[in-house]
Amino acid sequence: MAKVLVAYATRTGQTKKIAEAIGDAIREEGHGVTVENINKLKKETDLEGYDGYVFGAATYHGEMMGPMKTFLFMAEKANLEGKPGGAFGAYGWSGEGSIRVFDTMKNVFNMDMVGGPLRIKKLAGDGARKAKEYAKEIAAKLG
Ligand SMILES: Cc1cc2nc3c(=O)[nH]c(=O)nc-3n(C[C@H](O)[C@H](O)[C@H](O)COP(=O)(O)O)c2cc1C
Repeated sequence: MAKVLVAYATRTGQTKKIAEAIGDAIREEGHGVTVENINKLKKETDLEGYDGYVFGAATYHGEMMGPMKTFLFMAEKANLEGKPGGAFGAYGWSGEGSIRVFDTMKNVFNMDMVGGPLRIKKLAGDGARKAKEYAKEIAAKLG
């Protein structure tokens, strides 16, 4: 059983809902999951002990939420190279947040990322299905 950290930045709770849906679906695949607001992850040692990482940020003003930028500077020190990863986020119309988080995990952290970021407007309906499929992609990388 692998252990996965799902960490999110949200303002109104949509990205938290996606984080929880991804977490539940990875658990259904037989792995251990911790779902945490990035506010609670203060230092790089808080990222130790996991086999995979899924980071999520909502989009505001064409960017990932500000606190996620600070979190990623911290996570840079955690040496996540080669670890399976994914990125997600709630959005309204453009959804840059999850794209930038994904690109950072891929190009700066050199993680073993799934095919692309997951962008969801609302978790209801099709969003829940997409979150589940995304979780399966991540679980497949965990072996
Ligand atoms: C002031 C403001 C700015 C926003 N800017 C963007 C944006 O640039 N692009 C986008 O796709 N969505 C934008 N949104 C929509 C949010 O991403 C959307 O409401 C999302 O569900 C919020 O996620 P959260 O509940 O996790 O905070 C904006 C929303 C607000 C209130």
